[in-house]
Amino acid sequence: MAESAQMAEREPVFWALIPAAGIGRRMGLDRPKQYLTLGSRTILAHTLSIFLEHPRIRGVVLVLGPDVDPDALDLPLAGGRLFRVAGGAERADSVQNGLDFLSERAHGDDWVLVHDAARPCLPASDVDRLLRELRDDPVGGLLACPSTDTIKWSDGAGRVEHSLERERVWRALTPQMFRLDMLRRANAQARSGGHAVTDEASAIEYLGEHPRLIEGSAMNIKITRAEDLELARLYLMQQGRLDGGYRP
Ligand code: C5P
Repeated sequence: MAESAQMAEREPVFWALIPAAGIGRRMGLDRPKQYLTLGSRTILAHTLSIFLEHPRIRGVVLVLGPDVDPDALDLPLAGGRLFRVAGGAERADSVQNGLDFLSERAHGDDWVLVHDAARPCLPASDVDRLLRELRDDPVGGLLACPSTDTIKWSDGAGRVEHSLERERVWRALTPQMFRLDMLRRANAQARSGGHAVTDEASAIEYLGEHPRLIEGSAMNIKITRAEDLELARLYLMQQGRLDGGYRP
């Protein structure tokens, strides 16, 4: 590569976007799951600190529900690197609000790592791996786990239609890492096309692109049901990130 081209090339910039505007009905509790406490901190605070403490993350956009008083949250100190945005009705709406906010501050080629607030056990080494493996990728990708179970495709009426080839089945985790402009466009198009967007990769797939699968730790669970809390507590303890019992 010519020296001038090398000099013109930008060092990649990485942002994190945390959708945390869900109400978490599946846990049947009085408050959204991200506000439950594990040790002395909320699940949300555990999740945020992974990114705020990462040296390569320039800033973190936190998308919160409309009824949340941010001053009442035990948010980690962020030295001006934490930005709050209001969420929307669906996860994809919340993500879009965060991307719109970022588009006024970041470059369209910057990378955005979208990570569920309800996944506090993400190891920092998985963030490192994503950044390393995808920084020069034309599309981007996601952390995922090869399925250890055989997956059945149902006929919608309680019977198996067929089985999926296990070697090719992966469970999508987060973070999912894409360039700001591409993800913003993909998310907007998929939503307006009425396509169900339950993760960022599905929006990118809707554009006809093929995100890369990067194998991540199975510890990176999404807290969804009450029993997931015990597991998350164990994983945080194993990572040396828990300082006491949890208070549901
Ligand atoms: O509902 P689900 O478990 O898929 O939510 C994944 C993440 O998306 C959670 O962190 C949740 O708070 C967030 N979310 C959001 N806005 C919504 C719905 C979910 O930010 N309207």
